[in-house]
Amino acid sequence: MSFANFHRIIQKNDTVVLYVGIDNLYTLEVTPSIKNKHGSDVPNIFQTVYGALRVMDLVGKEFGTRVQLTRGWATVLYPTSELWTLTLPHRTQILYSTDIAMIIGRLNIGPGSVVCEAGTGSGSLSHAILRAVGTTGHLYTSDFHEERVKTAVSEFSRHGLGERVTVSKRDVFGEGFGAGDGSADAVFLDLPRPWLALHHAVNAVKLTGGRICSFSPCIEQVSKSCLAMESLGLQTITTLEVLVQEMSVRHTDVPVISIVPDNTPWKSQLKDVTNVLQCNNNNKRLKLDTSQADTTDGEEANQSSEMSDEKSAVERTGSSTEVGMETSNNTA
Ligand SMILES: C[S@@+](CC[C@H](N)C(=O)[O-])C[C@H]1O[C@@H](n2cnc3c(N)ncnc32)[C@H](O)[C@@H]1O
Repeated sequence: MSFANFHRIIQKNDTVVLYVGIDNLYTLEVTPSIKNKHGSDVPNIFQTVYGALRVMDLVGKEFGTRVQLTRGWATVLYPTSELWTLTLPHRTQILYSTDIAMIIGRLNIGPGSVVCEAGTGSGSLSHAILRAVGTTGHLYTSDFHEERVKTAVSEFSRHGLGERVTVSKRDVFGEGFGAGDGSADAVFLDLPRPWLALHHAVNAVKLTGGRICSFSPCIEQVSKSCLAMESLGLQTITTLEVLVQEMSVRHTDVPVISIVPDNTPWKSQLKDVTNVLQCNNNNKRLKLDTSQADTTDGEEANQSSEMSDEKSAVERTGSSTEVGMETSNNTA
C-alpha cells in the first residue's frame, strides 16, 4: 500500500524498491510467501548478486536504510512512480520519466484533475498520473487487451491506488473512453493510429481549457494526428520531442594571447590579484592561496577566483599554456 500513503516504516504488504546498484533495482512485495513459476506458495526470499534477502525481514525497517544481504548490502527505497517505471514488469513498451514529466506538465494535470488515458499498457504513465491527481482526482484508463487490464487492476489495488482509478477493457476507437463526457481536464493517447480516437477525446474533454496529448513514436503518425486535430477544430496544436542533453564542464589548458599593452595603467594592479592564485601545473587546475582566500566568504571567493582567473590569463602575456578554462557541451 506504500504508493498511496507515505510512511517511513516498512509494513507487511508494502511495495518497496530494492536498490542494489544504479542499473540493478527491483520492486518487491513485503509478503511472507510468493508464487513460484509452478503456482505453488514458497517463502519470499529474494536473490541478488550479493546474496539472498528474506523479504519479511524488511518489516519495521525505515525506508532509505541499508539492509544486509548474505554477501553484501542493498538499500531499500520508497516506491515513487519514477522508480516504478524503472522496475515494473513490462507487458508493453512504456513511457519513461523524461516524457512523463513533460506530458503531466503540458496537460496541466494536478490534484483534483480528471484524466482519460488509452491504452493503459504496463501502467507506467498511469502511476505518475495517479500520484499527480491525488486523492481528489480520478483517472479513467482503457485498454482493449483483457490480460493487461486485469494485471493493471490488480497492481493499482495492491499499490493502494484502486480508489482513484477506473480501468476499463474497451476499444477506444469504437467505444470511446466511457468517461469524461465533456468534464475531463485532460485526455492522453498512447496507441497506434491515435487519430481514430481523437473525436472521442474531443467529446471527453472540457470545452473550456481541456487539453489533449497524443504520444507517437514516428513522424507519420504525428503528422496524421495533427491533421485530424486541425480538422476537429482543436486550438494551439504543438509537436514536441523531448531530449535530455547532459552538459559536461571540464578544465583544460588553452593558449592565451595578450591584448593588454605594457603601458596600460592598471596592468601593475593585476599582479596583486594574480598573486592570490597559484597555477598547479601537475593537475592543471587553479588553486586559491588560502592565506588570502580565508578572509572572504564562499561566494566572494568564487567571484574573486573567476575575476582573478580572467586577469591572470591576460597577465600571462606570451606564456605558453599555463592557465585556461573551457566548457564544452556533451551531446552524447
Ligand atoms: C504502448 S502501450 C501503452 C503504454 C503505456 N503508456 C505505459 O506507459 O505503460 C499501448 C497500449 O494500447 C493498447 N491499445 C492499442 N489500441 C487500442 C485501442 N484501440 N483501444 C484500447 N487500447 C488499445 C494496447 O493493448 C497497449 O496495451
